[in-house]
Amino acid sequence: MSTLVTGIAELVTNDPTRGESPLGLIPDAAVVVADGTVVWVGSATQAPAADIRIDVDGRAVVPGFVDSHAHLVFAGDRAAEFEARMTGARYDGGGIASTVAATRAAPDDLLRRGLADLVAEMRRQGTTTVEVKSGYGLTVEDEARCLRLAGEVTAETTFLGAHVVPPEFAARTDDYVAVVTGPMLDACAPHARWIDVFCEPASASAFDGDASRTVLEAGRRAGLGLRVHANQLSAGPGVRLAVELDAASADHCTHLTGEDIDALAGGSTVATLLPGVEFSTRSPYPEARRLLAAGAAVALATDCNPGSCFTSSMPFCIALAVREMGMTPAEALWAATAGGAAALRRPDIGHLGVGARADLAVLEAPSYRHLAYRPGVPIARALDLPG
Ligand code: NIG
Ligand code: FE
Repeated sequence: MSTLVTGIAELVTNDPTRGESPLGLIPDAAVVVADGTVVWVGSATQAPAADIRIDVDGRAVVPGFVDSHAHLVFAGDRAAEFEARMTGARYDGGGIASTVAATRAAPDDLLRRGLADLVAEMRRQGTTTVEVKSGYGLTVEDEARCLRLAGEVTAETTFLGAHVVPPEFAARTDDYVAVVTGPMLDACAPHARWIDVFCEPASASAFDGDASRTVLEAGRRAGLGLRVHANQLSAGPGVRLAVELDAASADHCTHLTGEDIDALAGGSTVATLLPGVEFSTRSPYPEARRLLAAGAAVALATDCNPGSCFTSSMPFCIALAVREMGMTPAEALWAATAGGAAALRRPDIGHLGVGARADLAVLEAPSYRHLAYRPGVPIARALDLPG
């Protein structure tokens, strides 16, 4: 069954062969989708017939957002930690342990409901693909359980057993890394596409460069793709390690040296910026303009999690990227769609060319510029297509 989506005031295709902008803009456009795939894109006046017609009545349509970094399997609440930060407390990742305790104690159904609610909340704001990490279980059974649950809502599942060293392994990081790279990896690899590590020598409970390398190399041997929480709290070794190992993504990139920027520009690792974290931890924002000027690929994601940033809104992150990091509205939208797809190494999403997955988001606005122009206003939603 085919569906014609027409009445599109402005279509963002992210197909650089269409028009002058990398966004591949088409005014007064239409899209035809069939069996979940885009089969035709162009001017509404030239659109072919289809079985069903949806008129979006002068709204803009963009590729569904690709949120390539989120921690959605958890229980508990850390609003008090946020409140303390807003009056001067520093974020150091120490609160992760409280989410681990609550998550371990939670029955499957509670975790499943929280996860489903967040995914639905994301879809209502235009997100059509989300990556979901484990990392609040930190036992063999709990990490595998969190990944099984994540796999119920997305194909983009990430094993983050190396999130922090859990309290029962305090001061025994090597022993914990042996568990992560041994029995935990064995139990989790069947449920994960990716492996990630919180590489942060500046945090007492995260992992230094050597431990991070051990975790990533073990994950690669188990067939997983690589991602790294890198340079969030300090200019540590994470970014350069990510590029050296050809990780798909180095995430955070809040503290970068010139060498880090050169490495990202020269490699195929995407720099995934998470400005909601800087907002929610009252920290300086990453230097997006330096990355873009150097030629690095940049993605934007929410990092939705109960500690450092509890937003599910990609439009909010776009607005922050524009207002606080100096990205243009076009760069920010590209980073939230095609950039996220590159960070997940997914050529089928993040654009609306023929052959792409039919992931469309509609805006209550005539132009993509309104995503940043109308901050905090819920103008984006994923379009539900028949069939
Ligand atoms: O991406 N940096 C480590 N992990 C998360 C935060 C997790 C938490 O505070 O619960 C992050 O910021
Ligand atoms: Fe994260």
